[in-house]
Amino acid sequence: MDFKLTEEHIMIRDAARDFANSELLPGVIERDDKQEFPTEQIKKMGELGFMGMMASPEYGGGGMDTVSYVLAMEEISKIDASASVVMSVNNSLVCWGLDTFGNKEQKEKYLTKLTTGESIGAFCLSEPEAGSDATSQKTTAIDHGDHYILNGTKNWITNGNTADFYLVIAQTDREKKHKGINAFIVEKTWEGFEIGPKENKLGIRGSDTHSLIFNDVKVPKENRIGEDGFGFKFAMKTLAGGRIGIAAQALGIAGGAYELSLKYSKERKAFGTEICNHQAIAFKLADMHVSIEAARLLVMKAAVDKDTNGNYDLSGAMAKLYASQVAMDVSVEAVQVHGGNGFVKDYHVERMMRDAKITQIYEGTSEIQKIVISRSIING
Ligand code: CAA
Repeated sequence: MDFKLTEEHIMIRDAARDFANSELLPGVIERDDKQEFPTEQIKKMGELGFMGMMASPEYGGGGMDTVSYVLAMEEISKIDASASVVMSVNNSLVCWGLDTFGNKEQKEKYLTKLTTGESIGAFCLSEPEAGSDATSQKTTAIDHGDHYILNGTKNWITNGNTADFYLVIAQTDREKKHKGINAFIVEKTWEGFEIGPKENKLGIRGSDTHSLIFNDVKVPKENRIGEDGFGFKFAMKTLAGGRIGIAAQALGIAGGAYELSLKYSKERKAFGTEICNHQAIAFKLADMHVSIEAARLLVMKAAVDKDTNGNYDLSGAMAKLYASQVAMDVSVEAVQVHGGNGFVKDYHVERMMRDAKITQIYEGTSEIQKIVISRSIING
């Protein structure tokens, strides 16, 4: 077993780290405060190839492995989790979903723009009454021969207003339950498609989360992804990979909070010495370090599983469950290490603590990950 990264992996990680420090760090506090989308930064991320890392080169993607992607996600998330959720949804849900299950025409028309950052994508599964219980889709897509008519509401959609193309999951035949669900590519400019109000969130405030309303939106049949009834499997398979990206985001938030805590504890003095010399702080740093390393092993295992046809439904759920708990625990402790300074915005860790929470909620709550894990270990 080899735990070493390749030279290419190190190069990608370092490029993401440099970009995060030079382009995302300036202004990250203000963007969070004002709920401002990192428009220019995301554009640059597209130019640098961070928006379609794993997608096929023939459609403008980087053709990279999942290990490269999680390394970049971790570095971007250390500095700005709002930027990294945009990256994560675009890469793992939208680009990967289209690249893997879309047809040639769909990829030429949409994927080529999404991989380069020219356009941003959104993944629309959650509804007011179908968050965790994803089979209970109320949004309908009724078959009218050469097109579908889409009606319903989607909630908590990342990139809700900034996206150009939306992958929308909807029920075509309720009697067939999850086998009657389809996935569609919907364009923002289509008649009847309305963007709801922006959510005022606890964390990842620089990202753009909206509800979406579909009123008799006409969707051409050629915009359905896969065979009739493939939509639920499409969503589940895509989310299984997406969870690895969110696990990497959680790992990055934890890593960012830990690095700031280590630095601060070597500078801040109390009782005549730097606070890292007090066991009360040193032991916190030790716990943070160990849990981050353990989370990293799970995240890397899931990424390698995905790259080698392993069971990443299981390892991805394990990585997300554990890394998101670590992000929460480490960021709370980071605020404690920083004391009063940790409670104000200038030191970044209070934002990280707020950002960490969403990693236990989106792309399947921690409880959903436990459903996936327990089913897998019980049923084999
Ligand atoms: N791969 C392929 N197929 C899968 C699958 C997977 N990972 N998981 C389930 N399926 C298939 C099953 O095989 C089954 O198909 P068959 O009947 O043909 O065998 C079908 O899907 C239904 O499966 P279940 O009976 O297991 O379905 P369930 O109703 O019990 O739900 C669940 C399973 C795991 C709880 C699922 O509903 C789930 O993952 N819920 C959470 C949804 C979620 O993650 N939402 C996040 C929203 S997206 C988001 O957050 C993006 C963002 O903006 C950041």
